Amino acid sequence: MGIEIIGTGRAIPAKRIPNEALAATLDTNDEWIRSHTGIGARHIADERTACSDLAAEAARNALALAIERGACDEKTLEDLALTVDMVIVGTSTADYWCCPATACIVQHAIGAKRAGAMDIVNACSGFIYALETGAGLLSINAERRRALVIGAEVLSRFADWSDRSTCVLFGDGAGAALLEKTERDGGVLRTLLGADGSGAEDLIMRQGGSRNPFKKGDALAMPPHIEMNGRAVYAFAVNAITETVTKLLEAERLTMEDIALIVPHQANARIVHAAAKRLAIPEDKFFLNIEEYANTSAASIPIALDELNRNGRLRKGDRILCAAFGAGLTYGGAIITW
Ligand code: UT7
Repeated sequence: MGIEIIGTGRAIPAKRIPNEALAATLDTNDEWIRSHTGIGARHIADERTACSDLAAEAARNALALAIERGACDEKTLEDLALTVDMVIVGTSTADYWCCPATACIVQHAIGAKRAGAMDIVNACSGFIYALETGAGLLSINAERRRALVIGAEVLSRFADWSDRSTCVLFGDGAGAALLEKTERDGGVLRTLLGADGSGAEDLIMRQGGSRNPFKKGDALAMPPHIEMNGRAVYAFAVNAITETVTKLLEAERLTMEDIALIVPHQANARIVHAAAKRLAIPEDKFFLNIEEYANTSAASIPIALDELNRNGRLRKGDRILCAAFGAGLTYGGAIITW
């Protein structure tokens, strides 16, 4: 049995903000942002667009690609959506604070009427956690065949736009993968998940939860913002990528020769370069698109997968290795045979 990805999709907001535009209101500049992060621009959702809107668009695009490429028997989005057994959304910027899950809104929006739905709240590692959850939920129940696994974020809404050390880093977007359980070997080959909760405060949004709830009359209090200890997260991230790559290869008895491409979470190009150096792997073995999208958290890996898939960079049988890290602190990875 295998769990294959038979369709990918992404949703990128039209509004593009290059670094130069931020310099108009913040004490920053294109040179600093590019040299410290590799980011050249970010895409920001308009006020009417919430997380589920981007997630549903990415999901529809994944279904449409599966149909277009003849990866399924169904010929219409409606018919294919009805075959989906699970909708899983990895996000930290859900439509609503506590409930309902964003996945439920997506399930309804795309017409996946038979599907169960759930969110995974694990920030930038969210897609990898959702991928393993989706693969596991298909494996454990003979009656389930297909799962939509989505990473979607509207981080711009929770960035402090007066804090140059964080707001320049983030962008909005969503990516989706349609998983199918098959009789063949291959697909999602091996996954790895981990966490170190001692770093919980290194990347945190403090307000609004049960520890610091909004109170009646608090309407004008500071809105919830992401706070980050950038240096601590940076060090964690380099270790996380290095260990994830090493452990996944060891577990499958593979070497880098067997891997066509590493698709890392796109948080900072310098993190990737440092991990490449530590692993003694050429930098061009890592796919980077952070220049255009910035850090889209849970969406970054599925956006990258969709870009690679549509650009013809992934050939059938290619093994790719995904590696993520993020708030929690969490990390995770997967080897996937395309
Ligand atoms: O998705 C997972 C979560 N996030 C991450 O993975 C992020 C991990 N951390 C990082 O990527 C890096 O730590 C940052 C990009 C956040 C920061 O880079 P850094 O090289 O660690 O810079 P720094 O925080 O040490 O700041 C260096 C200087 C400071 O000025 P002083 O104190 O040396 O005068 C900052 O105030 O750069 C200043 N600075 C900026 N200057 C211009 C910080 N942000 C900016 C900015 N523009 N946007």
